[in-house]
Amino acid sequence: MAAIIIVGAQWGDEGKGKATDILGGLVDYVVKPNGGNNAGHTVVVGGEKYELKLLPAGVLSENATPVLGNGVVINLEALFEEIDGLEARGADASRLRISANAHLVSPYHITLDRVQERFLGKRAIGTTGRGIGPTYADKVARIGIRVQDLFDESILRQKIESALDVKNQMLVKMYNRAPIDPNEVAEYFLSYADRVRPMVIDSTFVLNQALDEGKHVLMEGGQATMLDVDHGTYPFVTSSNPTSGGACVGAGIGPTRITSTLGIIKAYTTRVGAGPFPTELFDKWGEYLQTVGGEVGVNTGRKRRCGWYDSVLARYASRVNGFTDLFLTKLDVLTGIGEIPICVAYDVDGVRHDEMPLTQSEFHHAEPIFETMPAWDEDITGCKTFEELPQRAQDYVKRLEELSGCRISYIGVGPGRDQTITVHDVMDA
Ligand code: GDP
Ligand code: IMO
Ligand code: MG
Repeated sequence: MAAIIIVGAQWGDEGKGKATDILGGLVDYVVKPNGGNNAGHTVVVGGEKYELKLLPAGVLSENATPVLGNGVVINLEALFEEIDGLEARGADASRLRISANAHLVSPYHITLDRVQERFLGKRAIGTTGRGIGPTYADKVARIGIRVQDLFDESILRQKIESALDVKNQMLVKMYNRAPIDPNEVAEYFLSYADRVRPMVIDSTFVLNQALDEGKHVLMEGGQATMLDVDHGTYPFVTSSNPTSGGACVGAGIGPTRITSTLGIIKAYTTRVGAGPFPTELFDKWGEYLQTVGGEVGVNTGRKRRCGWYDSVLARYASRVNGFTDLFLTKLDVLTGIGEIPICVAYDVDGVRHDEMPLTQSEFHHAEPIFETMPAWDEDITGCKTFEELPQRAQDYVKRLEELSGCRISYIGVGPGRDQTITVHDVMDA
């Protein structure tokens, strides 16, 4: 029995899709525990590239059952567009199962996400505009619409009406927008009910039963630690808990059952959207990482901000998630760059901080303190074992391991499924 959580250690786009794809072939279920179609997980199989937004990347693993857990927020239109797109390419999404308790993104959530961002002006979060924040806000305010509501029309209509009572006042009076007709929203949801019905399960029962039978479950987190609403760079975060505790809640699997928590971390750092980023580069190296790393957001097509590896952040992520292992991705991007800076601590207004400062204001002032290591020039994209890596690449990985508070068990040397070095296999944990 294995219950493995995949968590982004930085600000997202670390390569969680690729990690899922590698482990997905070995497990029975791949569950998405949080987030919605704000994610963008890339998988490259045999030179073919797939970009998953709402579905877990595990949908591409032939023997695994993909599940959208209770902690996910689902945009039904986006869901079926993605399923149809995959099936048109020959993939099979028919095994997909959906938690009855997952919340639904409504057209009014998307409208609100966009007008709220516009209203914030210079203080905008830079959200993906997919309605994620407003949907989670309604969930917590207990006025959300859940998957199971699709099958009880009168309850569905009541819930939409009560959610829109206040929202329409806001839209009209604050944001100067037209009100939304509750009947139109109800018709929108009901038009999907028959297609959704056969996919709906009691996911926590099914997943726990699978574990009881000795089967393997992988939780594929969306977003990342520094985007966590509790542990990230609030308010420049998403509205869910993409950390390991959130994965337990979002899949309905208790923490005592988890066998490995695998943090996915890039050999440098990127961020999409607004918010503090201590190691961000504004010089030619930022452009270099952006270009050579192909750092363009899957979801919104925005260029990712780029910077050097931040080990203060890595230690923090190891701590709040309880990582058992790290999967270091994109090591190949650093080939041939001469010297590699690694952030080992922050200078905050003249004071050295080896760990995350207490307050966001201090974090906004954090200047990285770097040490440097020499880069390697050899092409590493074909390396299959740690020993095959050039000595300098081995030294860089070992130094990151020392600094990051967790062993590095996988090393990505290219985007392909087979371009991964396994040092420790989490399936053996
Ligand atoms: P996710 O959101 O964490 O799943 O990551 P994304 O898919 O948004 O972004 C990661 C990008 O890095 C994708 O384009 C992957 O194909 C690519 N990638 C993943 N691992 C590696 C690696 O080891 N080397 C290289 N060069 N690219 C990688
Ligand atoms: P994956 O799973 C990178 C960022 C957005 C924005 C903030 C809030 O591919 O790593 P939201 O729409 O969630 O309310 O936006 O979070 N963000 C991501 N950045 N990767 C992601 O997902 C992200 N999901 C959300 O850019 O700054
Ligand atoms: Mg992504």
